[in-house]
Amino acid sequence: MRFVSPNCSDLYEPNIEMKQFPDGDDYVRLVDLKADGPVFLLHRLYPEQDKALMQAVLMLRTLKEKGYRTALVAPYLPYSRQDKIFKEGEAKSAEYVCEMLKWAGADRLITFDCHFMKKAGEAEYGGLKIASLSMGAELIERAKGKFGDGFEIVSPDLGASYLVERSGGKSMEKVRGEYQEGGEAYRRIEGIRADFEIKGKDVLILDDMISTGSTMIRAAETLKQKGAKKIAFAATHGFFLKDSLQKLGALGDVFVSDSVPSPVSEVSIKRKVESLVGI
Ligand code: R5P
Repeated sequence: MRFVSPNCSDLYEPNIEMKQFPDGDDYVRLVDLKADGPVFLLHRLYPEQDKALMQAVLMLRTLKEKGYRTALVAPYLPYSRQDKIFKEGEAKSAEYVCEMLKWAGADRLITFDCHFMKKAGEAEYGGLKIASLSMGAELIERAKGKFGDGFEIVSPDLGASYLVERSGGKSMEKVRGEYQEGGEAYRRIEGIRADFEIKGKDVLILDDMISTGSTMIRAAETLKQKGAKKIAFAATHGFFLKDSLQKLGALGDVFVSDSVPSPVSEVSIKRKVESLVGI
């Protein structure tokens, strides 16, 4: 059964009415839903993650009220990076968000390259069953289509090594430091180590996400210092905050999936979503 929400209209025709009250509160209404089995709610939770999460809660809760079992298909799971406590008193946001989705009525969550899982497959977290699909192979195929076979594949940190391992890729190690000064919760990158030879090679750097682009830029600098030739950047989720797309574009080719739509979303999640919901 296909069941989708308006913020995925680039992938499917919307069939949930979603509007806003004049003060900005969300309004959600299921339109002519008649399903005899479980339903799939496809809803992007980024950008404007807090609003999108609230919309998901309203939709899930309404579906639960109507007696449906719902699998939430959220291509990117926001807050998934805050799954560990670095400083006493911090919120373990990843867990709380999963608990909230479970409470609202998500029978399971289907997502892509879920950050805290650090592998593709199934897990339970915050009481929520999660299936994390990977776009790693599709992104590597795209790179082959663009550059041919003769490039090395490297992940910029150990958390993303699962994305490159099956293709014989290598992993770098990112060392993070303290939070930077100011109102932005961003832990400085102290360094990125690469304990392998890369001299004279073209390289695809593959990560689960590009946010500010700092990880990719530092990784590229490290590889260049070690003698790498051409560099390209790929990730499942691309947020491209600030001027990161421009900065990365100046260093090499950049492409991502359309889990979060962007000007460089060259690989679609659509086929994988369809195989899941059986259409
Ligand atoms: C973190 O470990 C992730 O895998 C990414 O490397 C990170 O979130 C990318 O963030 P940024 O683009 O801000 O460096």
